[in-house]
Amino acid sequence: MTNLVRDDIAQTEGYAPGEQPSDTTTIKLNTNENPYPPSPKALAAVAAIAANGAELVRRYPDPTARIFREEAAKLHGVPADWILTFNGGDDLLNVIIRTCAGEGDAVAFLEPSYSLYPVLTKIQAARPLVLSYDIAGTEWKLPAGIETTDAALLLIVNPNAPSGHFEPLERIESIAKNFRGVVLIDEAYINFANDSALPLVHKYSNIVILRSMSKGYSLAGLRFGYAIGQASLLKELVKVRDSYPCDVVSIAAATAALADQEYARSTWSSVCSERERLYSALEALGFSMPRSHSNFLLAEVPAGASAERIYHELKSRSILVRWWNLPRLAARVRITVGTKEQNDKLLAALQDILSSASSN
Ligand SMILES: Cc1ncc(COP(=O)(O)O)c(C=O)c1O
Repeated sequence: MTNLVRDDIAQTEGYAPGEQPSDTTTIKLNTNENPYPPSPKALAAVAAIAANGAELVRRYPDPTARIFREEAAKLHGVPADWILTFNGGDDLLNVIIRTCAGEGDAVAFLEPSYSLYPVLTKIQAARPLVLSYDIAGTEWKLPAGIETTDAALLLIVNPNAPSGHFEPLERIESIAKNFRGVVLIDEAYINFANDSALPLVHKYSNIVILRSMSKGYSLAGLRFGYAIGQASLLKELVKVRDSYPCDVVSIAAATAALADQEYARSTWSSVCSERERLYSALEALGFSMPRSHSNFLLAEVPAGASAERIYHELKSRSILVRWWNLPRLAARVRITVGTKEQNDKLLAALQDILSSASSN
């Protein structure tokens, strides 16, 4: 196969998505979905297309997703041409890297953060420039000097994945002000935080904010995300993205879900209160972790325990969490906040696993 494709593609690993079991009984705490269903209005929008949408499905969708852009513009207090829609946030990441970084140009991102960033950078034949988080115990901090990094594009996920740590906006602003290229602030998990970099898009033409409908709005299965940024920059992304990145069903459902803020907010508040309960319960079991502003916790396992073993033991009990065999993550598991019942089952399983390990 190596002769048929680019050598660098043949040699790259590609992105490894989290496991997606086909059954619905597994307790799935591994890919940060919202544990609550989407707004009934979003489901009704899907049903309406299924019931009488033959003509809608026969035709191409609106390439501008106008109804969604107008809804998002109203919500975020920006003009509609400051919103651009994508086939999930991942699609925006792909497009922004292709738009900003030519072959050999540097794309800077943090480590540990979203493991898709290096993969997309390499596929573009751009140069990954890896910046390391300062981690001291459970405290995570962006390293000094990012502001003057020489790169075409900087990707910062805030709240961070996989830690859930939230970088103060003063620091994000200082970076946007001084960085020479485009700064993408990946706010895939922002609905579980108290603040957002949104006000900065009015001041800085080099900021693009990524939003996802997968987590906060429970629409991971539909694939819908969007960018918020000044029109002068977004119009360049339009040239690079697919002509029709979002289909009629996802546009209708995402618009209805975004419009139903009351429902979405009720799920965020349930997730956040469960997150705090889970934090305390995990701490009582001996785990330590940063305070999370997201819908997951990055839990360092108690002294003497093995994160890899805990991951496998949970999996054998049909509970999936995420574990990476990477230097700064191998002693931790990332746990998506589930419903109260799911979290209770997780905690009971962890208690059992830890006590059987200590009696061995
Ligand atoms: C940090 C981060 N950014 C972006 C995304 C993209 O989300 P989606 O493509 O589902 O909108 C994810 C999904 O897991 C993520 O973790």
